[in-house]
Amino acid sequence: MSAPTIALLVGSLSSHSINHRLALAIGNTAMGRLDFDPISIGDLPLYNRDLDTELPGTVLRLKRQIKACDGILIVTPEYNRSLPSALKNALDWGSRPYGESAWQGKVAAIAGASSGAIGTAIAQSHLRIILTHLDIVTLPQPELYLRVTDELIDANGKVLDEQFQALLHRFVDRLVSLVTTPV
Ligand code: FNR
Repeated sequence: MSAPTIALLVGSLSSHSINHRLALAIGNTAMGRLDFDPISIGDLPLYNRDLDTELPGTVLRLKRQIKACDGILIVTPEYNRSLPSALKNALDWGSRPYGESAWQGKVAAIAGASSGAIGTAIAQSHLRIILTHLDIVTLPQPELYLRVTDELIDANGKVLDEQFQALLHRFVDRLVSLVTTPV
């Protein structure tokens, strides 16, 4: 049997992103158990409901990827105590046109890294409210609010701390259960 497919959305568009690094580390931890399908959000236009009747190609691609996945992983930074606008834009596009949301009935796990002490806790809390409204069931625990440094994860997503690797294993175990158990 093939591994479940997880649509991966990273809230940062930066090529030096610590959230991309965290996503790599989660992907390495889940190797062989989950297949990740990265979703590009940087090429989506800003949401405009005038385009609902003729969705842009990038939006159609986003919706196809979401509909085809078994679960979703969102790894995001916190911007000004909330989620980045690029991520919110992708969530809005996926939810439209009205009545044709690609998100409905999906399951998702969320994680985030910041350079600050609160490690994206507020952004993730805002994100959970939005995902609940979109009818997405989210993994409640373990929470991954992280301050990622070179000592925690290297540039290739290799985890350098044993305790943190154990936490990622628990996170992946719970995500596998979530996507393989009907909700
Ligand atoms: C930030 N940063 C930040 N960090 C945080 O913990 N809470 C916050 O509210 C904010 N706000 C914020 C706003 C904006 C516009 C930027 C650019 C940055 C810092 C942020 O955690 C840091 O830049 C991370 O490195 C961003 O993640 P990526 O892009 O490296 O994945």
